Amino acid sequence: MAKINNKAAMFNIVFMLSLLLIVSMADGRGKTLQCDKVVGVQGGDTCLGIIQSSNSTTATFVAINPNLNCSALFVGQWLCVSATFN
Ligand SMILES: *[C@@H]1O[C@H](CO)[C@@H](O)[C@H](O)[C@H]1NC(C)=O
Ligand SMILES: *[C@@H]1O[C@H](CO)[C@@H](O)[C@H](O)[C@H]1NC(C)=O
Repeated sequence: MAKINNKAAMFNIVFMLSLLLIVSMADGRGKTLQCDKVVGVQGGDTCLGIIQSSNSTTATFVAINPNLNCSALFVGQWLCVSATFN
């Protein structure tokens, strides 16, 4: 009886841990974002233009520039266009 309970408890722990891992991978939390390439905003640049010229996707771009407001880009602002999650 005690053995079965232990196994059930172990299973629960492993299950919870893998659930946590999946969640943290899904939203990028608990991971460090390392920007591999940045570009400086120039006059006339838009988020979309930068996404296209860096061959990125909107989803990636938003994920690696979490606090970016694309309506308020300014010249000289650095944007991350390529990053890895560690
Ligand atoms: C984006 O892709 C095009 C076509 O494959 C290529 O010519 C260009 O060098 C790429 N630009 C970057 C920044 O990787
Ligand atoms: C983004 O910038 C625009 C223009 O300055 C502003 O109106 C808007 O409220 C900003 N949005 C956020 C989420 O900060």
